[in-house]
Order: sequence, then C-alpha cells, then structure tokens
Amino acid sequence: MSEAKQDAVVGRGMDRVDGRLKVTGMAPFTAEHKLPRLAQAVMVQSTIPKGKIAAIDTAAAAGMPGVRLVLTHRNALRLPKPKPPDAKDQPPPVKLNLLQDDVVNYNGQPIAVVVADTLEQAQAAARRVKVRYAPATGAQAALLDFRQAARHPHRPKDQPDRPNDSNRGNVAAGLKGAAATVDAVYTTPLENHNPMEPHATIAAWDGDSLTLYDSTQNVSGVKKSAARTFGIAPAQVRVICPFVGGGFGSKGTAWSHVMLAALAARQAGCPVKLALERTQMFAPVGARPMTEQHVQLGAAADGALAAVRHASLSSSAVQDEFVEPCTLLTRMLYQAAHAQTSQRLAVLNLGVPTYMRAPGESSGSFALESALDELAYSLKMDPLALRLRNYAESDPDKHLPWSGKALRECYRDAAARFGWSRRNPEARSMRAGEQLVGWGMATATYPANRQPAKASATLLADGTAVVRSGTHDLGTGTYTVMSQVAADALGLAVDKVRFELGDTTLPEAPVSGGSMSVASVGPAVQAACMAVRAKAIALAVADRDSPLYGADPAAVTVTQGWLAQGDGKRDVVAAVIARHGGQPLQADSQSAPGDEKKQYSMHSFGAVFVEVLVDPELGTIRVPRVVGAYHVGTVLNAKTAHSQLIGGVVWGLGMGLMEASELDPPSGRVVNANLADYHVPVNADIGEIDVSVVDVPDLTFNPLGARGIGEIGIVGVAAALANAVYHATGRRVRKLPVRLDDLI
Ligand code: MOS
Repeated sequence: MSEAKQDAVVGRGMDRVDGRLKVTGMAPFTAEHKLPRLAQAVMVQSTIPKGKIAAIDTAAAAGMPGVRLVLTHRNALRLPKPKPPDAKDQPPPVKLNLLQDDVVNYNGQPIAVVVADTLEQAQAAARRVKVRYAPATGAQAALLDFRQAARHPHRPKDQPDRPNDSNRGNVAAGLKGAAATVDAVYTTPLENHNPMEPHATIAAWDGDSLTLYDSTQNVSGVKKSAARTFGIAPAQVRVICPFVGGGFGSKGTAWSHVMLAALAARQAGCPVKLALERTQMFAPVGARPMTEQHVQLGAAADGALAAVRHASLSSSAVQDEFVEPCTLLTRMLYQAAHAQTSQRLAVLNLGVPTYMRAPGESSGSFALESALDELAYSLKMDPLALRLRNYAESDPDKHLPWSGKALRECYRDAAARFGWSRRNPEARSMRAGEQLVGWGMATATYPANRQPAKASATLLADGTAVVRSGTHDLGTGTYTVMSQVAADALGLAVDKVRFELGDTTLPEAPVSGGSMSVASVGPAVQAACMAVRAKAIALAVADRDSPLYGADPAAVTVTQGWLAQGDGKRDVVAAVIARHGGQPLQADSQSAPGDEKKQYSMHSFGAVFVEVLVDPELGTIRVPRVVGAYHVGTVLNAKTAHSQLIGGVVWGLGMGLMEASELDPPSGRVVNANLADYHVPVNADIGEIDVSVVDVPDLTFNPLGARGIGEIGIVGVAAALANAVYHATGRRVRKLPVRLDDLI
C-alpha cells in the first residue's frame, strides 16, 4: 500500500465534522436565522377538499394586535404567468397555490397568510380569518375515494428515461405455460414525510432582489422556482440553507409556503418567516401516494420465472401530476423472458404527492417481493433459492451489462449472518416460547443516479483549504464525506479542510435527492481539489527557493500538507503559498456523467432478512432482528454509511408496521396529522439491525466508485417483514401497514 493510500481518510468511519455544532445547538436551522425587522407569518389552509372561496372576511384578523398584513386571493399581488420550466430542472416544479384565485383543489390548501410582529399574534389572528366556501357538489364533488378514481385510471406523462409502460416478450403466453402462478393485488397507504425539522422559509427583499433562507434539498431549484414565480432573473435570487433536519424527498421541491413567504415579505415591506406546524406537513408539501399494485407471476417447476406482469396504480392530484414509479425495479431485477409493466394514476382532490425515500422502489418492492415469496411457497422452494434461480446476469430490459452487481455476495453475507439455512420453510413451524417466529427476506435495489455538479477548492496561506459546492447536508453527512474526499485529493489532513455548502452563491450542485449527492458532487470536489493541488505543485517546482525546484510535477506527491519527491526532498504547501505573497490558490471544476448510462445499467443492490415474533393470541408483531447486506460501491465513511442504511431499515419497519395517513372520507383531511397519531418507530420498536456492505467500487459509474446510499436501506424491508409474518402465522397480508388486526 502506498503512503498516500495509508493516509486516506475516505472510507474511514470518522465522526461528523458538524457533530459538535449539532449537539450543542449551534447549527443554525432555517427558522433560527435572525434578521432585523423580521415578521412572523402563519399560513391559513382550506377546510374543504374542492370548491370555491365564496367570501373571506379578514377585518377581525387585521384588527388584532401586532398584525401587519392579511394576505388572501383578494389582495395578493398578481404574479406573472410562469415561464415553462427547463426540462433539465429536476425535479420538475409543482403547480403551487399562491392566492391567485378562489379555487380550492384539496383540503389543507393554503388560502391566506397572516403576518404579525410575533408568532403568537399571527397564530391568534389566523384563527380569526373567516371563510365561507361554495363546496363543489353532485357530479362535481371532490374525488376522495381511491377505488372510485381507479375506475378511470389516468395515463401520466412519461418521464425522461422512465416510460410508464414496458413490455418484453409475450406475458399472456408465458403465464399460460407456467407450472405455478401468482395473481395478487397489494396496496400501500398514503404516507407523509415527517422530518424532525418541518418546512420553514425566511424571505427578505432588497429592491427586486430576494434572499430566501429555506429548509430545502435543492437550493438551486428553489432559486429557479422563485425567479420563475416572481418574474425576476435567477441572479436576483439567493437561497441559503446550511443545515437541514431531514427532508426525505419532501424538501426536493419548492412548495407554496416558500413563495408565500416571499409574497408576504414583498407586500408587508419587511422580512417574513413562515415555519410550518407539524400538522401543516400533512397536505401542502407532498406525500407518498397510495398504491394498488396487481402482480402476476408465472414460473416453471424449477422456479425459472417465465412471465411477470406488474400494473401499478398510484394516487395523484387534481392540482398536478405525480407518478410513483413502482414498476421500475420489476423491469430489471429478475431474468424473465416475458415482462410487462404499467403505471397509471387515480386522480384525487388531495395535495400533490411527491418523492419519499426510495420513491417507486419502496412501494414497488412490497408488491414484487411479496409476490415472489408467494411463488416460492406455491413451488415449495426456498425464497432465496428462487431469487438466485432468477438472478439477472445483465439488465434484462435494457439489454445492457451491469456497471457492477455483487448481489450474490449480498445474499450470501446476509443469509449467513442471519442463519437463514436453519429456517424451517413451513409456516407456523418455528416458535420461541409462546411466540410464533417468522423469517422472511427480500431483495433491495435502487438506481445509481448522477447529475452534473460544480465545486471549487481554495488553498490558503495558513495551510488549510476551503472547498465549496452548493449541495446540502440533510443530516446525512455531506459536510463530513466531502471533507474526506477533499482531504485525500488535496493531500491535507481532514481537519485542515473546511467544506461549505447550502448557498446558491456557491458552485451549482443538483437536488440532494435520488441518492445522488455523493455520486454527483463527490467527483466535482475531487476534481477541483486535484486541480488546485496541481497548481501548488506547479508553483513549487518553478520556485528557486523550493527544495522541489526543477522536479517533474508528475513525480511530486502531496500528503498531510507536504509536497514530496521520491528522493526525500520536500516542501510545505503553506510555505509555497507564503513565498508567493500569500495569495490563495483556487481552482473551479465541474463533473458530469458521460455516456456510460448508454453502455451500462447502473443500480445498487442488497438483500434484507427480517425476523418477527408474533403473539398467537394477540397478533402483536415485534421485530427482534434485521440483517441486510448491500452493494453500493465505494463507501466514503463507514460510520455515516452505516447510519444511512440502518435509518433506511428503521423506516422500512415503520412502513411495514405503522405508517399511514388516514383520510376522513367526506372531507379529505388527514385525521392523524400529528406525531402522536401518525406512528413512526421509536427506539423501543427497534431491535438489532445488522447491516454490512460488499466493498466493491463501481468505477464505471463515477471516478469515486461510489453510488448513493440514502434510499436503498428502506427498499425490501416491508416485503421481508410481511413475508416473515406469513412464515410465522400462515397469514398473507397484502396491504401496508401490517397490523395486529390483520392477524387475529
Ligand atoms: Mo429522495 S425521496 O429523492 O429525497
């Protein structure tokens, strides 16, 4: 191993560089930024799902103490008709509710904003805004019933690279000749994002220039959305977000409240803060849509899959379209000659759904991986053996080789640690005392996504470096892993590197979604650091006062701040800079995917095994143990990667056992819109989670060999859990969440 390699910090499980700031409460989250003359805003929401605002009386609210402005569709500035977004802007902007008319499309739609000196004054005044509705009735009444909307499925627009339909071979013929078949419908509920930090925005105008502090996964996306909304140049908008308390997809998009804060600031003539309450997280800022998925499988007696059909229907909104891409994994995960998939929408009067951790794969894998388990039982075959029997050596849909797939190793490692070979395949056959024991498994996969990104690196005279990119740290560890990548590329100790992110004045980076921040920003950071290091080397070898004068630049290494040549001659980076007037050295770089996507199919893979204990009398389900193994390419930080994966598994258990936003049928309002009634797992719900990675870099995908790791951990967990519940009880539950009332 070379000296440089021994010193490498990439891969090491180092602590978060922002950990101390976080635990001491010193990390400024959006709502904590202090601005002079800052006023507080509260958003008022509709209480009907569809209709018109017949009258809105703001006189009482406006007369309350401290109130500066009550904004409704009657007095809100008319905004310019927004220009169509650039197709390159991902995710595409959502149609917003910005008080431009009297139309109500869903319950919880923003219909007014109250601005006051204090939050309490704004809250009190918001309660005094009186609204009279003209609800839509009869044939025009709100659509709130999924089954009813499903009778008229809507065919959504195809997304770039991901059509809603796929077809290979002849599924009908394949099913006909099958020795065993499965034909089942799986459903998943509406779920809402519940990051610790709810959405929040502070907006401040200076003339026609707008500064937004916003809790977002996409500073540059918010900037572009604000420019389009207000008809100003993108250069007139700055978005700042140094810390995010979780996003999970809901903060990938600029929702109405962001622009309403800016509109209110404009009309109130002062900076305005608008922070959503927990309850306001359950309608106007996205949701994981409901799904109903019909899966048909046909296999030969030896388990070889002949045919797969996966028809997915997900809930969407009247306001705007969103497709849950549930069938993408079905297209590529198993070898099957005949495969047909489709994605359709049931359009409802609800808030627009959006991306939620592993959108598509998490809901889709519940259906596909449950169906495979059903097939395994009908074939009397081990569920893992069935998956190995149908292992896809190349992408069966795109007919491309994988950029890297160590899924066999994932199955092997996870099965060994779990003890899968000791499983009695028969349902209700295993017990621990009175409890029924169930063991289930599933495959996990998530696409390897990457987009263009920019970064800059600056070497300072004090021997430290500042590296910058306009990306985000959602709590995931971006500050830390980018500092590690930069330290190795610069040849500096990691504590000599400061990484800055979360500001549109920094070099542009993509949305921190789709598990692509590391894969996109990492190579840009690496390239900028290599470039600035080359500048330091060039300066040294041209410097008569340097011991390295005249050396071949290609032979100079940089480690721990020392430039060195093989013969023992060396110089300090800081000294080189000092001898040149102390002027910082800077390099800007960008990095983008090439055409490897046309030559390879690029995905992460994993295997997850779940043990459940079910009380035979009460139907209670406990999960003492989950074991997972994942192939995600190079791991940049063993500790943060481990946290990402176990966090995904925890959410998978929440999805499997707890989470559901319950709608009040006549009003379309979420009735459990708080953290007491909307259950997510707490420590007491979680047993042992044992995850590992198969450490094989994917250098075809990017120069770091690293794929994203934020989403794959949730994938397959709910299916493995439902499969374990079947193994324990003999009861096949085809709906999420699996609850005790399904078992008694
Ligand atoms: Mo992720 S759901 O793309 O933030």
